[in-house]
Amino acid sequence: MAERYVIRGGRPLRGNVTVSGSKNAALYAVAAVLLTAEPVTLRNVPRIADIAEMAEILRAVGTHVQVEDNGETVHYHTPEVTSVAPPADLVTKLRASFLVMGALLGRTGEAECPPPGGDVIGSRPLDVHFVGFKALGATVERREHTYRVQATRLRGDRIFFDYPSVLGTVNVMFAAVLADGVTTIINAAPEPEVEMAANMLMAMGAKIRGHGTPTVEIEGVPTLHGVDFSIIPDRLEAGTYLLAGCATHGDVRVTNAVPRHLDSLVAKLREMGMDVTAEEASGIRARSTGELRATNVQAVPYPGFATDLHPPMAAALTQAAGMSLVHERVYDNRTLYAAQLRKLGARIIVGGDAATPEDLAELGRMDAGIRIGSGSVIIEGPAHLVGTTVRALDIRAGAAVVVAGLAAEGETVIEDIGHLDRGYADLQARLAALGAEIQRV
Ligand code: EPU
Repeated sequence: MAERYVIRGGRPLRGNVTVSGSKNAALYAVAAVLLTAEPVTLRNVPRIADIAEMAEILRAVGTHVQVEDNGETVHYHTPEVTSVAPPADLVTKLRASFLVMGALLGRTGEAECPPPGGDVIGSRPLDVHFVGFKALGATVERREHTYRVQATRLRGDRIFFDYPSVLGTVNVMFAAVLADGVTTIINAAPEPEVEMAANMLMAMGAKIRGHGTPTVEIEGVPTLHGVDFSIIPDRLEAGTYLLAGCATHGDVRVTNAVPRHLDSLVAKLREMGMDVTAEEASGIRARSTGELRATNVQAVPYPGFATDLHPPMAAALTQAAGMSLVHERVYDNRTLYAAQLRKLGARIIVGGDAATPEDLAELGRMDAGIRIGSGSVIIEGPAHLVGTTVRALDIRAGAAVVVAGLAAEGETVIEDIGHLDRGYADLQARLAALGAEIQRV
């Protein structure tokens, strides 16, 4: 029988937690390893399923991977690329696998990959990646089951992105670091994980300016060398523990969180009435001071509120007095978690088709003239949540049911926890250290 988490909720979480290295940043760093023939050591790598999957993909194209006993230090070495077409069954397991396209294109001038997998949270096109590869002089061919990119020589150019795609920015950076001349990405993703990927490339000898801003300039160099590099802390994992503390009226400190990566969450926690201190040296502490207040959230690209924290934020808002609105502006199908929260007793309505007059009447706010667009949710709180069986539909929808389960009275059983294993290292131990009653059965 598949494993589940069983949570006995209703008690405040209190204490300190240290989060892992960032899942997404680590995935970018692992792909970056392909850009050099020299050995690379990565430290503070999270012990999660996605990193192990990514290592399998690298092995399939010629990388030697050796994980140290602590699981968090990993050595990679790709003296020679032995294949430019990783197996489809590996690539389709996770979205970040598509970064081997840019890395192999940069290193060898060609790559072939099927469309990548990833969470079902909306349409996830790849046009930005291809616009970038083509601007650098590559041809992009759609074959029956794969995309093939090829270039005899890559040349820098000015590239405009319609949307500041995170993986798109990293993929094009990978192809550009070894190209001739200067590449300028306009409307690049400024996320801290993208900034870190650029910092790693620079530590390998790349010349990059403006990373962490919407305009990134990359001056090509002939080769990159090896590096010993440490992954930044996971802001999404940190945010999830702070929200679990919030939802349970607790007092949680995330010791190694980087406050400037979490400005948007800190602001929202304060609006909800939490007492938050955020300092580089001591991390972020969010302490309940009494009743939580409702607030509004817009999930947008960084430095706005992170879409990946939308589901656990919604779970915390079920405990806040009044009506909250969460407006999702990154993904068109992020709100599937709402039905799971409703099973626990949350009063939450999804916009678009689901927002019938009956739904709004149920909230008792028909006459308030509320209009909610698709992708938005309205939450009426505080709701008395009662444990039942729910599913982790993707990584962050999983975080939402964990947060809600911790706030709920009685026993919450969470199914499909493989999704949580993909993104949250040692979730049970970390929550237990904060005083949660959680078992993996
Ligand atoms: N988009 C385009 N064209 C493109 C690419 C994307 O229009 O070519 C649109 C998508 O339709 C979507 C939006 O851009 O609406 C966001 O996509 P983006 O490309 O920025 O996301 P991603 O790079 O595929 C990464 C993270 C996600 C995170 C997003 C947004 C990884 C492996 N994934 O995905 O993380 O939600 O950035 O910050 O880094 C997660 O960790 O749970 C997760 C899903």
